[in-house]
Amino acid sequence: MVERDYVVLEDIALQGGGLIARSLGEIVRSRGVASFVMAGGGTPQALYRAMSGPRYASEVPWQRIHFFWGDERLVPPDDSGSNYRAAWESLLSMVPVPPENIHRIKGELTAAAAAADYTEQLRVWAAAHDPGAPNSWPRFDIVLLGLGEDGHTASLFPGSPVETAAPVIAVTADYQGRPAGRVTLTPPILNDARQVIFLVAGANKAEAVYNTFVNDDPVRFPARRIRVLDAPEPLWLLDEGAAERLESVNPTG
Ligand code: 6PG
Repeated sequence: MVERDYVVLEDIALQGGGLIARSLGEIVRSRGVASFVMAGGGTPQALYRAMSGPRYASEVPWQRIHFFWGDERLVPPDDSGSNYRAAWESLLSMVPVPPENIHRIKGELTAAAAAADYTEQLRVWAAAHDPGAPNSWPRFDIVLLGLGEDGHTASLFPGSPVETAAPVIAVTADYQGRPAGRVTLTPPILNDARQVIFLVAGANKAEAVYNTFVNDDPVRFPARRIRVLDAPEPLWLLDEGAAERLESVNPTG
């Protein structure tokens, strides 16, 4: 059986939001700055709203936190399909984050230009804030990832090329009618993170969660490519629905 570090939460948005908000606060207190990579799609929006609530408004040193994205669709930032817009509306417009701390993938550019621009943003940020990083990109403090019904994570889709040395690539993928052109972080940069958290909710994801846990096949189940090198195993935050197939895998929660 595959062991996975997962917990099943009653209120995944409130509890998950609290965990991330508190963790970011601790990181800033210990290192002076924190980097948070936001997931796209629908699941994290309620979690972001929870983080924007009065409970964390004063507790979290928002001015010292830098925001990035795990992937973005190639649409303008004000488009309804933009992951940046979703994060702006549910969190970033509600808390005092300085504009210079928001490092979005520029979906309004062409695929190649957006990937090159984000790669350069990551290089510049790492040089300024994470000089000890082993590569020319940050060792992100917290990376939040979702999971699609087909097992994709960020914009790493089943069957897509497994090996790349680049931290950022442009891909095309059809999924639930969402914008197909995308830019995504890749396993090399994701696996340099200090902590990866998967956030998965809904019984419609139960099959994908179970298959990802029990099949060591990174081509069919891209979330298996996320093996954080010298950090805790990815933490899976699940609700009851997403966890319902896991009775045969030992829970840690
Ligand atoms: C995106 C996301 C993607 C998302 C999954 C789950 O750009 O769509 O980054 O990886 O996390 O598709 O999406 P839902 O939360 O909407 O089910």
